[in-house]
Amino acid sequence: MNILVIGGGGREHAICWKLKHSKLTTTLYCAPGNAGTSLLGENVAIKPTDIDRLLEFVQSNDIDLTVVGPEAPLAAGIVDRFREAGHRVFGPTRAAAQLETSKAFAKEFMKRHRIPTAGYEVFHKGDEDRLREYLRSASYPLVLKADGLAAGKGVIIAESANEAVTNAIPMLAGDSFGDAGSTLVVEEFLTGIEASVFALTDGNRFVTLAPAQDHKRILDHDLGKNTGGMGAFAPTPHMPTELLADVKIRIIKPVIDGMRADGIPYSGVLYVGLMLTEDGPKVLEFNCRFGDPETQAVLPLIDYDLAELLRDISDSKLSLNRLPQHDANAVCVVIASSGYPDAYETGKVIYGLDGIDESKEGVLVFHAGTKQDGNDVLTAGGRVLGVTALGEDKDFAASIRLAYNAVNRIRFDGAYYRTDIGRKAID
Ligand code: AMP
Ligand code: GLY
Repeated sequence: MNILVIGGGGREHAICWKLKHSKLTTTLYCAPGNAGTSLLGENVAIKPTDIDRLLEFVQSNDIDLTVVGPEAPLAAGIVDRFREAGHRVFGPTRAAAQLETSKAFAKEFMKRHRIPTAGYEVFHKGDEDRLREYLRSASYPLVLKADGLAAGKGVIIAESANEAVTNAIPMLAGDSFGDAGSTLVVEEFLTGIEASVFALTDGNRFVTLAPAQDHKRILDHDLGKNTGGMGAFAPTPHMPTELLADVKIRIIKPVIDGMRADGIPYSGVLYVGLMLTEDGPKVLEFNCRFGDPETQAVLPLIDYDLAELLRDISDSKLSLNRLPQHDANAVCVVIASSGYPDAYETGKVIYGLDGIDESKEGVLVFHAGTKQDGNDVLTAGGRVLGVTALGEDKDFAASIRLAYNAVNRIRFDGAYYRTDIGRKAID
């Protein structure tokens, strides 16, 4: 098959890497890709949201399967357009992607189908008085969520009524997150350990990948600002087999069955962000795509042909009940540009990549924000690289050591990484 992967981050490099191992893959393209994906296939200079040009590319290059990485093209209806034109594509339709693109949709869906999640109220523009009243009598902390896509910035944890009112009223007016915030979900604050489970589904059947844990904050010990994710590990010991089975029965299956029953079958990857609370796992969020950097940890653990799996799902012919997994664990450490998640510089030469012998060392260096410039690889984004180390069975200490051993040999001006990725798998 000729395969096109859409996106240009670490997640897409990991997807391309796994697809490259497939006996079904003939030619691999990545739009727009990065310096890492260019080593595995051909980068195509088309933006992920330029659906017209992507469709033209697919038609003129005999693409047999398109795999969509980021949420923006899914939200813009790329899957609907490709299917109408008769092209095989992996991902949910625009309507099904609402599980990510509208938090109010997701909450109402969960309520209707009795899927465990935090208690909530929805407010729209014009509901300011009711909102003020609600916030004055609520107990704190309380979580405020902009309804729409807000690039991971739409969640505020308010510690007091004053803080909640100060943040929530401008959100409703559209002043903080534009239209994405003019509908607001106010949610009960949950405590526990966070984990992410990815379900690959054709709308009927599903299989799950190894449950993962992300590290969302920029500083060690989960301090500082929220980021897209500074590292991940899988399978998390905090979700043993019995708990994963419970998540499948009480959450994943009801979501997939519920979407089908509601007439908007969900196909693709469903990212279930969970809080493991004392009362059991509860849904924090859904995403309609693979997580980044969790993908860089979970894909190398799959002991199955990814091209075959994604093709079968796109054809609504998933035949597996369980996805074979390697008896291994993975730890991925993200190296970022200093300043991230705020302003940062790009164009710095990355040194040390050649010195890493991936197969011998048991590590994989996934590129995120990088760009090839002659013989040099330059930084081109906030998150620059993700170094994944694989360890045997449950020996996370060994994979953490391996990952940091490689990370320490990669250098560029302003390189920054957390030093505690994976600790939670041991402590
Ligand atoms: P979300 O985009 O919904 O995943 O929210 C981003 C982050 O905010 C999550 O990863 C959690 O750390 C935190 N968060 C979201 N919802 C809640 C909640 N109901 N209780 C506690 N923390 C939450
Ligand atoms: N790592 C979190 C996300 O992909 O949304």
